[in-house]
Amino acid sequence: MDIFQKCRDFTEARDAQRRGLYPFFIPIEESRGGRVVMKGKELIMIGSNNYLGLSWDRRVMEASINAIKKFGTSCSGSRFANGTLALHEDLEVKLARFTGKKSALCFTTGYQTNLGAISALVGRNEHILTDRYNHASIMDGIFLASGMKGSVKIHRYFHNDPENLESVISRLPIDEPKIIVTDGVFSMEGDIVKLPELRKIADRYNAALYIDEAHAIGVIGDTGRGCEEYYNNICSDLVMCTFSKSFGSLGGFIAGDEEIIDYIKHFARPLIFSASMPPATIASVTKALEIIETEPEHVKRLQQIAGKMINGFKSLGFNIGVAETPIIPLIIGHNEKTFLFWKALFENGVYANPVISPAVPPDRSLIRTSFMAIHTDEELDKVLEISGREARKLGII
Ligand SMILES: Cc1ncc(COP(=O)(O)O)c(C=O)c1O
Repeated sequence: MDIFQKCRDFTEARDAQRRGLYPFFIPIEESRGGRVVMKGKELIMIGSNNYLGLSWDRRVMEASINAIKKFGTSCSGSRFANGTLALHEDLEVKLARFTGKKSALCFTTGYQTNLGAISALVGRNEHILTDRYNHASIMDGIFLASGMKGSVKIHRYFHNDPENLESVISRLPIDEPKIIVTDGVFSMEGDIVKLPELRKIADRYNAALYIDEAHAIGVIGDTGRGCEEYYNNICSDLVMCTFSKSFGSLGGFIAGDEEIIDYIKHFARPLIFSASMPPATIASVTKALEIIETEPEHVKRLQQIAGKMINGFKSLGFNIGVAETPIIPLIIGHNEKTFLFWKALFENGVYANPVISPAVPPDRSLIRTSFMAIHTDEELDKVLEISGREARKLGII
């Protein structure tokens, strides 16, 4: 047997393609704000994380173009060496102010932010407590820490279950270093972390608290500042976020106390050994941040849309779990039916994302819908009408 045998044996994707039930890697031929063209067909896009629609804001696009004219298309180097522009540092100062932290550090992707920050911070014989539904980049950060340093103590607690977290953490030696890591808004189910309870547990058991705000900043809290604002300024020790969602761009950051950020800066391998965010990207994020800070109406509209769609799907009879945000799962709990429903939506002019195991437990396969502040009421009503009609045909509702 050679090393490639497993590739030849992997036929699931090709089988699904033959049956016309393969929903992944479909190229977008054109983007038109809340709509896209795929396979020559215009679809309402309810599968994007561009929550505020800012990747389509003229000012954001212009900021990118101007940065290219001034600095070119790439930094061609790591932040550590020739890859730090004044633009990076300016953005970091603004992000620290926005999150109310002392310092911030940008990475080239959100994935690398978790990978780099977690693997830098967690050492041998130290404890990390992680929600079972946390994003894969958090787990991969833990794996990188374990691979580099050996015997990191990993504890996975039940999803958004402070009681279970407490029963796990209370059994650990009080004097051994610990960190609790959680998503702020969970990426598949759209529910919000119980931050006040987690803060109390962290304090009681001498643990640090790290929150991934990828789907929370720009989405929840009166001015879009995420979970901390949503809970009236309950503080975590470290806030992480991506730029690929509400900021409509690419990259990520981590914010916290100066010495902690400085340490991450010097020990995060994904920061040191990868080229930095390119000029166009930093400039777009800086402009997006300015818009989020000065134009709260986008966040308000998004929150209004979330309310409308949660009520709409619920009254049609969908199981939407405990969704509280513009991420609304339509839980089907059956892989084949999930694909059939995805296909029916696609054929009727709606693009959403199917999510099956291992991204979610096998009995929770779902269609992940996510909405943008730029969706019109007419588009939203159409989505509800098509979803209801097609789900009824398949016996989902
Ligand atoms: C909760 C969470 N954290 C981190 C990431 C990684 O961010 P990015 O895709 O911007 O690299 C994602 C992306 O899906 C996410 O959902």
